Amino acid sequence: MSHSVSKYIEEKIRERKEQNTFRKLFLPEAKVDFFSNDYLGIATNKSLAFPLNKIIRKVPHNMPLFGATGSRLLSGNSQFVEDTETLLANIHQTEAALLFNSGYNANLGVLSALPYKNATIFYDELIHASMHDGIKMSKAKATAFKHNSIKDLEEKLAATHNFKFIAIEALYSMDGDFAPLKEIVALAKKYDAAIILDEAHSTGIYGEKGEGWAQQQNLHQDIFIRIHTFGKAAGVHGAVVLCNESVKSFLVNYSRPFIFSTAMPLHSVCAIRSCYEYFASTACEAERKKLMQNIQLFSSVTKGITEFKFAESPSAIQTLFIPGNENAKTAAEKIRQQGFEVRAILSPTVAKDTERIRICLHSFNTTQEINDLLQTISYLK
Ligand SMILES: Cc1ncc(COP(=O)(O)O)c(C=O)c1O
Repeated sequence: MSHSVSKYIEEKIRERKEQNTFRKLFLPEAKVDFFSNDYLGIATNKSLAFPLNKIIRKVPHNMPLFGATGSRLLSGNSQFVEDTETLLANIHQTEAALLFNSGYNANLGVLSALPYKNATIFYDELIHASMHDGIKMSKAKATAFKHNSIKDLEEKLAATHNFKFIAIEALYSMDGDFAPLKEIVALAKKYDAAIILDEAHSTGIYGEKGEGWAQQQNLHQDIFIRIHTFGKAAGVHGAVVLCNESVKSFLVNYSRPFIFSTAMPLHSVCAIRSCYEYFASTACEAERKKLMQNIQLFSSVTKGITEFKFAESPSAIQTLFIPGNENAKTAAEKIRQQGFEVRAILSPTVAKDTERIRICLHSFNTTQEINDLLQTISYLK
């Protein structure tokens, strides 16, 4: 390798280490899960293997199950995938659906392709990195608005005559709070803006059958594009973009992550179908209820812990603020030593002085586990 390239790489690694933000891969240990996005326990639910196998058996024998063999525009398309998209469009009460290999790819694929030169994307300052990266690749202008601030968004919308897009999340991945969707929909109507809504952390949990936050709020018809990802509560992998037929056509023509990548393998498509069957079951309904009970329990116990600041979150994503990268890392390690898997979220991933421990609640966490975790936290000082 070139000497100057090696030097650059070593310098960048040293920089991370000096700033205490060096990332490395680790192997999860057998501790109580308070860190995964498997909110409903679907990823580890062995009883779902049987219904999944039943769906796999429906795939015609001449179709490649293990790999898609090409991009959807080449050899990677099939009736089975198209039927799955129709199924997803029906469940989500929209005209069309387009599968992507991941939520990251879907956000990149929508935001890089759709907002055009004379458009402005107004984005919440706390949107996910994948939306940011899509915005960076787009030809449109981009302006951040303060997190969940209707006032700031309206001032910014009113001050531009460009075509307008609004990029938001339904449920924010770091703070666990919801977007004020009704108010944002009203602003979008007033200023003729198109909303792009990332439902990564609300898919499967909200709505009668896990259809997401927009459908639960009955606002889905007013949202231009919804992105549901399947790597979180759905327990599998991939994502779907929900839109109208013209937008789907546009993405098939212009969205580079869709065009220039091997399509999702059919066994992943089967897994998505299987998880939507499960979303509609009474068993899943019971898991959603258990998750809500755990959220309530967590919130009520944390109210009694005055030594620490917790974010007020109505969702499965809970935040314990421990300002300072070193402090947050040390606290997470202490909690882990007591048998709970949690992770510190450091700056610059979150703003300086809002470093934190992110606690993900699940339907399968027991009352005892939640109480023990919070007792461990209360002994941290
Ligand atoms: C809000 C949000 N959007 C999109 C993504 C990306 O989804 P995926 O993991 O399917 O690539 C994530 C993943 O962490 C996320 O939190």
